[in-house]
Amino acid sequence: MKKILVIGSMNTDMVVKCSRIPSPGETLLGGVFSKFFGGKGANQAIAARKIFPQTSFCAGVGADDSSEYLAYLKKQGLDISLVRKFKKANSGVALITVAADGENSIAVAPGANLMLSPADIGKIDFSKFSHVVMQLETPIATVAAALKAAKKAACITILTPAPAQILPLNILKDIDYLIPNEHEILLLQKEKFTDASAAAKSLLDRGVKNVLITLGKRGSKIINAGGEKIYSVYKVKTVDTVGAGDCFAGSFAAGLCIYNNDSDKAAKLASAAASLAVTKMGAQSYHSLAQVKKLMATKRVSKIS
Ligand code: RIB
Repeated sequence: MKKILVIGSMNTDMVVKCSRIPSPGETLLGGVFSKFFGGKGANQAIAARKIFPQTSFCAGVGADDSSEYLAYLKKQGLDISLVRKFKKANSGVALITVAADGENSIAVAPGANLMLSPADIGKIDFSKFSHVVMQLETPIATVAAALKAAKKAACITILTPAPAQILPLNILKDIDYLIPNEHEILLLQKEKFTDASAAAKSLLDRGVKNVLITLGKRGSKIINAGGEKIYSVYKVKTVDTVGAGDCFAGSFAAGLCIYNNDSDKAAKLASAAASLAVTKMGAQSYHSLAQVKKLMATKRVSKIS
């Protein structure tokens, strides 16, 4: 039986749409303000749930009122019984600028996301799950504990290393799919890398099983013991790229579930889901399996340069 567990962050995204990303020290006028549900963990959980119904979410919320967000997650069909409330912090908030071309910059106040501890992970029965998905907006010790427990229970593990940080060497063997973007892949090891493939190969040598690099408009690339393969994205009008990487990771996990762990089929599905995700404002503007399959049927893939 397949079941996904996403462990990670929940934020309220405060988004200003601007002509461009402001430079350091600059004040830029003229933006429209919107508030969205976000956080890399919740984004991945919603993306997975849109495609695959059996999805649970574990996160930390703060002393402030998060009932609206939690009710929304529940309404989307997510199992949120593993979400914990912490009284000593407020819930996470992200300040986001989205430029006219859809690119973004994000500053996060993690709040209660940082309170989710290895002890909380110790209370989870990982044998109930087949796939576990994480990011790095919760403490690295928590992520390490979850990866270890997930592997002990024979789960497939997926980690988006964002925000990027140097990964402890002892967690690398517990990662089945590492899904960084092309900037993050260079920042995950003590050594300075300038080449994404070289960085990926070093991670594989150190125990990661597959590295799947997201390349924005240029698609994505999987690197593993079998070699490299590129996946295209679809031709769409880009409005907002916030949460596209999270959509890719969550949809990839869902794809593994529906395609019996065929990573090739899962990556194709994730590419289409992430293409649709950038066509609307808001991190969680994700689409159903039927909508994603409809886009795949158009075969309107972008050429990789
Ligand atoms: O990856 C996008 C997400 O990063 C946003 O939703 C924001 O909350 C930050 O966590």
